[in-house]
Amino acid sequence: MERTDCTPVDCSTCNEDCGSRQDMESPILKAHPWSNIKKVIAIAGGKGGIGRSFITATLAVLLKAKGYQVGILDADIMGPVIPQAFGITEKAKGSDKGIYPVKTSDGIDVFSMSLLQKTDEEPALVNGAMASNILGQFWAQVIWGDKDFILIDLPSGTGDLPQTILERFPLNAVICVTSTPKLTQMVTEKSLKMIEDTEIPLLALVNNRSVKGEDLLRNRKADSEIPFSPKNETLMNQGRASEIILKELEPTIDKIINML
Ligand SMILES: Nc1ncnc2c1ncn2[C@@H]1O[C@H](COP(=O)(O)OP(=O)(O)O)[C@@H](O)[C@H]1O
Ligand SMILES: [Mg+2]
Repeated sequence: MERTDCTPVDCSTCNEDCGSRQDMESPILKAHPWSNIKKVIAIAGGKGGIGRSFITATLAVLLKAKGYQVGILDADIMGPVIPQAFGITEKAKGSDKGIYPVKTSDGIDVFSMSLLQKTDEEPALVNGAMASNILGQFWAQVIWGDKDFILIDLPSGTGDLPQTILERFPLNAVICVTSTPKLTQMVTEKSLKMIEDTEIPLLALVNNRSVKGEDLLRNRKADSEIPFSPKNETLMNQGRASEIILKELEPTIDKIINML
């Protein structure tokens, strides 16, 4: 008998014959049965404020503009910004079958902790372990439908949340966002190490807020160099991310599309 009250990351309360029981041999979480996703890509990057959410949002906008079916899972449980960046005011709706993402004006499906909260200012009062569990539930319960790509906007650092996603989500690739200041790159190197410790391919390196003449550490070459643009920052802050077209992301977009 299938149970609806069990959590996907903890099967200890289920019976042996529970239909929802995860195969504990495989730590990889299963998506909702109505989610048919071709490729799952995490957007990582060590330091807070480096531009992961900005790059995730703009990658999704470009992919959508090219006709691909795209979803964004905002995995920053403690500091979700994706719905606000797209001016989404609607909340997520659920049924006994699962929870539905909310669409942006240009048709990108978004799911985020903030779509479950009454107000945008409400803090998620959870610790790291609880947040990891919540993310696992999002993966099992959000109904994405048919998608070419799900982009996962990771939280900063190398703690529980990014680790859970790298270890337990069925990721096909990771894109790492970095920037040239030395301190930022030191933190990026930690993230790159965390990614290298998994078998997930690093698809692309994005140098955000790039400055001409400033190189990345260890002669790393970025696939895309994104300058800081006050206009784009304003568009993000005003909930108009759908209007940002970053042509500098094209080399990274090509790599994403080539995964199909
Ligand atoms: N290349 C850029 N051009 C304009 N604004 C940017 C750029 N990169 C980041 N920002 C802005 O900087 C702030 C921090 O970026 P954000 O994506 O939220 O960082 P993170 O998700 O890594 O914590 C946001 O206001 C974002 O809109
Ligand atoms: Mg962010």
